[in-house]
Amino acid sequence: MAKVSTRYVCQECGADYPKWIGKCEACGAWNSIVEEQPREATPKGLSGKSGRRIQFVGLKGEAKPPPRRIIGIEEFDRVCGGGLVPGSALLVGGDPGIGKSTLLLQAVARLASHCRCVYISGEEAVDQVRMRAQRLDLADATVQLASATSLRDIIASLDADTPDVVVIDSIQTMYMDSLDSAPGTVAQVRACALELIRHAKRQGYTLFLVGHVTKEGQIAGPRVLEHMVDTVLYFEGERGHQFRILRSVKNRFGATDEIGVFEMTDAGLQEVVNPSALFLAERRGNVSGSCVFAGMEGTRPVLVEIQALVAESSLSTPRRAVVGWDSSRLAMIMAVLDARCGLALSGNDVYLNVAGGLRISEPAADLAVAAALVSSITDIPVTADMVVFGEIGLSGEVRAVAQSDTRLKEAAKLGFAQALVPARRRKDRKPVAPAVSPSIRQIGHVQDLVAMFRPLEGSPSASRNGKASGDKS
Ligand code: TYD
Ligand code: MG
Repeated sequence: MAKVSTRYVCQECGADYPKWIGKCEACGAWNSIVEEQPREATPKGLSGKSGRRIQFVGLKGEAKPPPRRIIGIEEFDRVCGGGLVPGSALLVGGDPGIGKSTLLLQAVARLASHCRCVYISGEEAVDQVRMRAQRLDLADATVQLASATSLRDIIASLDADTPDVVVIDSIQTMYMDSLDSAPGTVAQVRACALELIRHAKRQGYTLFLVGHVTKEGQIAGPRVLEHMVDTVLYFEGERGHQFRILRSVKNRFGATDEIGVFEMTDAGLQEVVNPSALFLAERRGNVSGSCVFAGMEGTRPVLVEIQALVAESSLSTPRRAVVGWDSSRLAMIMAVLDARCGLALSGNDVYLNVAGGLRISEPAADLAVAAALVSSITDIPVTADMVVFGEIGLSGEVRAVAQSDTRLKEAAKLGFAQALVPARRRKDRKPVAPAVSPSIRQIGHVQDLVAMFRPLEGSPSASRNGKASGDKS
């Protein structure tokens, strides 16, 4: 037998060390290393019994799509790839208080009309969950509710009467009595999740694991949890906004980067059928520094307003503040505007905001960000009925982006008459011919974009002429 010794495990990334250290060498976290009791020593090699021979097959053959259990909340179903797959495990991560418990309670209440659903809360007492159900007007749903944290009890109960859907809220509160570590440690979270996932696969129920997110934005404890489950969903939203976005970041049974949009109301989470209209609801036309970006979230087009404010700075290191977009990407766009168009922003504070609390990660937003910046510098509004999309390269060229037809179609649907798009088009595999399309203006270089904003004096203070013509031709 190999010698069994105590391990020291980082609670952030799961790396383990033979002795305690203050800073994890793998992820750089301070004070995250905790002593854990050893797992069983690894058995020696494969000597002895020989294995069974595996049957290899070709790639061609009949593959059945997995059966699905439809939740009945369309936004949720779509993010899951068209319903829940029996025997699969889903991790739902998100900040505390964002609405994970609310969302899952609403989901099981819907499912309860055609499936047997179990909701196990390790965080709240039965009364608390009942109160929430009453507030959401779901108290009549036939959900089996329990408050429990012992994995042994939970597995025994699920064995006795196997349901179709199980929610564990949250995995950080569960504990396995065979381990010495406290609930919430990497060892406990990993062991409990593994046991539950195995059980779900064996019994064929769909398992939801709720996971908290650390302030760094990772699911607390181990990334390993993300590898163990079939689907990882993040429930996110900006504090102070009522929008919540359910985003799939991993899905073995569907597309990733799919989003579902919800609104948190007094009566719980409501689906938002037309997110573009919602994100643009408070937009004021003809204001400089604002531009509508036609984006894609998964398979779905979403129009959002990008706002920029460029102001003269009194600081030696001007401020750069970005909400909803990548700050290094903003730095790149500003560098391109400086180097290729002579628009120096080094002495200005620059603020960029994606209105409505959405987070955009697409490079296709580059051109819209550049347009908002140039519009703010020149104090000339971008035409109110124009959408913009396109990626910007380091030499200032505007590059083609995928799914331009879908973007244009959404823009037309919401009444936008013009579109500023890359000159080159990427060949989409399945081009959709938009029935009504905005009038298209193609652009090959950021210089052409800057030329659209006339007159241009190059500094924010020099061009405060109050002109609000929205001229772009
Ligand atoms: P909750 O689902 O408990 O969050 P999580 O499980 O992610 O920690 O959501 C709690 C928040 O949602 C709380 O701040 C109140 C708000 N909320 C509403 O605004 N309306 C409602 O109908 C419900 C049930 C909650
Ligand atoms: Mg909760």
